[in-house]
Order: sequence, then structure tokens, then C-alpha cells
Amino acid sequence: MKNFYLVQNPLVKRDVTILRDKNTNQAAFRAALNRVAFSLAVEISNSFGLVEIDVETPLEKTKGYKLARQIILVPVLRAGLSMVSSFLEIIPDAKVGHIGLQRDEKTLEPMDYYYKTPKNLDESVTIVLDPMLATGGSAVASFNSLKRGGAKKCVLASLIAAPEGVKKMNDEHPDISIYTAALDRELNSVGYILPGLGDAGDRTFGTL
Ligand code: PRP
Ligand code: URA
Repeated sequence: MKNFYLVQNPLVKRDVTILRDKNTNQAAFRAALNRVAFSLAVEISNSFGLVEIDVETPLEKTKGYKLARQIILVPVLRAGLSMVSSFLEIIPDAKVGHIGLQRDEKTLEPMDYYYKTPKNLDESVTIVLDPMLATGGSAVASFNSLKRGGAKKCVLASLIAAPEGVKKMNDEHPDISIYTAALDRELNSVGYILPGLGDAGDRTFGTL
């Protein structure tokens, strides 16, 4: 696996367990998801470039830093929306685009229904937010669209990844780093991640 980063923090492992548990209620699921997404945001931010700037404290002038590039978050509708607020907590001036994709339940192919991003994708770091990297079809389609729109430096943030999805991303977008909180065993015959957590969108939004 290339460009693959597994966040191995004990609190993240505890929270992934809460997400997996079928008895976790919706409020606890959302809270655990927020905490894991926050840890992913911190981990991804280690790769951000900085430029040096002058800053004046109440006492004297000194050197400080600002981010070298604008950060653009792109949640994949619908489940990706659940990760936005945690990322905005530590990157409050990030811009937010949206990509609407839904997997066809028979073919597992992603069908797109919405695309809107900020301008200047080419000068920014674009972080796609999608809790589940299963077949990889949705992630690959998202980056195809973003690259067509000019995106150059891109990252994927997911909660749980299947080996099949990581391979598809490595094959089709070898330049893109994948950050995840768990690498699971495999997909089942209908494209769900095993052991996984079930349907991330349904569990987040209560549409089970
Ligand atoms: C889920 C998930 C990903 C996609 C992953 O979305 O949020 O977007 O499946 O699967 P893939 O890697 O096989 O493409 P879903 O289609 O269930 O839509 P939803 O977010 O509206 O629930
Ligand atoms: N989408 C989900 O929400 N869960 C999976 O296991 C696979 C795709």
C-alpha cells in the first residue's frame, strides 16, 4: 500500500470500537465520529506547508507562520457531512465544497448528483471527507472530478478503509495520500466493509 496512513491512537481505537458496536445509539455514534474525525484532521495537518510571517506581540516583533495553501474540505454527500465540523474546528478558515454521490445498490457504481467547489482548487490542498472507503468507486470518482476542476494536491480522509478500496485508489490516484482510522478485512458480496460499522450515512442521520 502506498501513501497510506493509519491513525493508531488508543483513543481512536476506542472510538472506532464505539462506531462499530451495533448497540451504540445515534448520539454516541455522532460523538465518537466527531472525535475520530478530529484526530484525522490533526494527523493530516502534519503534512501542511507553512510560510514564515512577521508578527507583533504586545512586547516585540517576532516571526510566526501561516499555512502556505488554502485548505478546501470536500465532504462526499451524504455521509461525508458528518466529518466537516471536526475539520473546521482546527481549520476554521477552510473553504467547503460538496460532491453528491450515491452508490447504485446493484452495480456498486457511484452515481453523481451534485458538484460544487470553491475556486482556486489548483493552488489549494483539497481534503475529501468520506467515512467509508469500500470498493473505492466513490473516492476515485470524487478525485476524477476534482482533478478535472484543477485540483493538484489532494488527500482522502476516511474512518474505515477496505483493502479493495485502498488498492483502487493506489492504482487510479497514486499521488493521493489516504488517512484512515482502521483498515478492515474485506468487502462482503454487496460491497459492505467487514467487520465495518454498517451504513455510515444511515447510522449518522438515523435513516436505518
Ligand atoms: C457510502 C459512503 C461512501 C461510499 C463508499 O455512501 O459514504 O460515499 O458508500 O463506497 P464505495 O467505496 O464502494 O464507493 P452511500 O452510497 O451509502 O451514500 P450515503 O452517503 O448517501 O449514505
Ligand atoms: N458504505 C457504507 O456506509 N458502509 C460500508 O460498509 C460500505 C459502503
